Amino acid sequence: MTATAPSRVAAPPPPRHIAIIMDGNGRWAKRRLLPRALGHRQGAEAVRRTVSACGEMGVSYLTLYAFSSENWKRPPEEVDDLMSLLRHYLRNEVAELNARNVRLRVIGDRTRLSDDVVALVNESEALTANNTGLTLVLALNYGAQAEITAAVREIARKAKAGLIDPEAVTEATVAEHLLTRDIPDPDLIIRTSGEQRLSNFLLWQAAYAELVFVPCLWPDFDRDALEAALADYQQRERRFGGR
Ligand code: IPE
Ligand code: IPE
Ligand code: MG
Repeated sequence: MTATAPSRVAAPPPPRHIAIIMDGNGRWAKRRLLPRALGHRQGAEAVRRTVSACGEMGVSYLTLYAFSSENWKRPPEEVDDLMSLLRHYLRNEVAELNARNVRLRVIGDRTRLSDDVVALVNESEALTANNTGLTLVLALNYGAQAEITAAVREIARKAKAGLIDPEAVTEATVAEHLLTRDIPDPDLIIRTSGEQRLSNFLLWQAAYAELVFVPCLWPDFDRDALEAALADYQQRERRFGGR
């Protein structure tokens, strides 16, 4: 590096892990006077585009927030629509994902998902387990507070059983008890639709993620929108608390 090129301007390397809060399907449909279900269906097209683009760009991990632990509060018809779409996606897309060397992983609480969805998830994970390209992580019935609570409960149980010394509990201990124990933290979190909050997504893992909020509604998200978010990320200076 020359004296005239201060390290401040060095662009960070491309993100290894991108996580996306896919928001705005309902508003996309509402603007077109269409039922919300159609917004979700168009949202699934944006998922396909984004998975392809990330695979081609050499991103290692893509995490998509597909259904939050709070989304059960929606009317039952909408929950059913979302679950049907998920079934459809798992039944029809996984062969294609497999052909593209994508490894599928699901994080979230599976106990509240119906048996057939759990079976599809298990089959999809097993089929793609040895793939070496993009790891696609679907967050399904995922909530970060529940995830952290479960980790704390498990650590407390181990401490009570004498398997862990409470004084030896570190950040690494907590991280090893999260659902993401074998997934690196996200470098970049994108949220579509203009909302600026995390909505209980990856709260622990987001500690040093760059956050990019884009006005575009999720069904409109495309390669250009992804590239714009990446360009925004490349402008950021990641300091991790250092100077
Ligand atoms: C995101 O779109 C999809 C899910 C949360 C599953 P929304 O359904 O939240 O769309 P808006 O926020 O109502 O526009
Ligand atoms: C976050 O979106 C959850 C997903 C994208 C799956 P929501 O639309 O559910 O979030 P809030 O309710 O606006 O915070
Ligand atoms: Mg929303």
